Amino acid sequence: MTDEKKAWGGRFAEELDGVALRYSASIDVDQRLAPQDIRGSIAHVTMLAARGIVSEADAAAIVSGLEQIDGEIARGEFTFRDDREDVHMNVEATLTDRIGAAGGRLHTGRSRNDQVATDMRIFTRDACRATAARVDRFLAVLCARASQTVDVLLPGYTHLQRAQPVRLAHHILAWSEMLDRDRGRLLDAATRMNESPLGCAALAGTTFPIDREQTARALGFDRPMRNSLDAVGDRDFLVEAVSALANCAVHLSRIAEELVLWSSQEFGFIEMSDRYTTGSSIMPQKKNPDMAELARGKTGRVVGDLVTLLVMLKGLPLAYNRDLQEDKPPVFDAFDAVDDTLDVLAGAIASATFGASRMRAALRDGFLDATEVADYLAARDVPFREAHHVAGALVRKCVEERRVLSELTLAEFQTAHAAFDDGIFAALDMEAAVERRDHVGGPARARVEAAINELTARLARRDIDARAVAADVGVVFEEA
Ligand code: ARG
Repeated sequence: MTDEKKAWGGRFAEELDGVALRYSASIDVDQRLAPQDIRGSIAHVTMLAARGIVSEADAAAIVSGLEQIDGEIARGEFTFRDDREDVHMNVEATLTDRIGAAGGRLHTGRSRNDQVATDMRIFTRDACRATAARVDRFLAVLCARASQTVDVLLPGYTHLQRAQPVRLAHHILAWSEMLDRDRGRLLDAATRMNESPLGCAALAGTTFPIDREQTARALGFDRPMRNSLDAVGDRDFLVEAVSALANCAVHLSRIAEELVLWSSQEFGFIEMSDRYTTGSSIMPQKKNPDMAELARGKTGRVVGDLVTLLVMLKGLPLAYNRDLQEDKPPVFDAFDAVDDTLDVLAGAIASATFGASRMRAALRDGFLDATEVADYLAARDVPFREAHHVAGALVRKCVEERRVLSELTLAEFQTAHAAFDDGIFAALDMEAAVERRDHVGGPARARVEAAINELTARLARRDIDARAVAADVGVVFEEA
């Protein structure tokens, strides 16, 4: 008899079919939960002893056996057996192999259903927090790169058409805002999921006088879950976490897309370091932004992971159903993909060189000053719609005559509208145009500097020294 069948006892006379065993085994995937599983078991048996449900001696033997297994797993010395279905069976059966009958008391008053739900809540809560910390490292890099690029102007785009000038630091800080919201979503999810299913057993609790408050506290949960059917039956907390990850992956993908565009010769806005680019086996001149492309590509997996979870859940009646075993691959995959992407893009951005002169050159063509012309008139009491029309007509004239707005004469401006005076030429200066956008959230120098200081302070409140972390990731600061 396999251990599996032994665990189920006398109900079965025949072994599981070989294909069925392979089909249902999850040990290849869920062995990753061993640390959480052992933590949960130690909390459970400690509580059982405190309540007099198992003897202190048996509990002590169980705890020390579990700690030994934990150490072996951490050191890579433990062999997980395929015939022991999942991580729970592997740990418990090994424990019983080693300490004898006492091992069989560990499972008193619980089931693998509350056990796996507990393991997944611990894992996912801690993983959300760890990913949030990685986002903070990314933010520290962005904060540092922003502080280095306040002077650099580039076109801001809409529809990928040059639109209005902004500071590069302002663009980089937009990325940091996007990612900081993802961090918040991950931590919100961690807080909401932080309740203990342990003690809900298979679905309807247990007849033993257990103390669910004690095990909840021991595992860092805020409280026991209120309903046993819900505790073992739902995985909405995984949907929430992976949804936050999918949002983060989409943000990273959008940043990556800009890095790819900017790396092209057409833009020339960034050159990524050799450490984050690859060559071509046939074209010697190539320096490809593969890391950014992979970041974009891996996003599809994370979105797929979210869909996998949602579809897995949609038809399930209460409470536990074996379908739920399929929750682990998408969750592990989503965390791995986002964690790696955060690290690799943080490094790539930390070590990249920005093409400031190409950015400035790109401001010359594309009539990024057309809005300035309209605003100039509107500030002189011309209704904005009329001002917009006048500016548009001047742009058309310039297009036809292959000129730019700043090459027009005052007479030509005044022919278009009498409200122009010679102040218009200063207004067309790109630096001045940016500086006039001086309000909360705007790209004027003082606003961008305040935003950098605010981000630095935000990170400091999280105990992060932005400059030190950025240097650690690879940002090179000029000597003062
Ligand atoms: N490997 C299972 C899972 O991940 C553990 C729970 C098994 N429970 C059961 N009733 N078969 O969901």
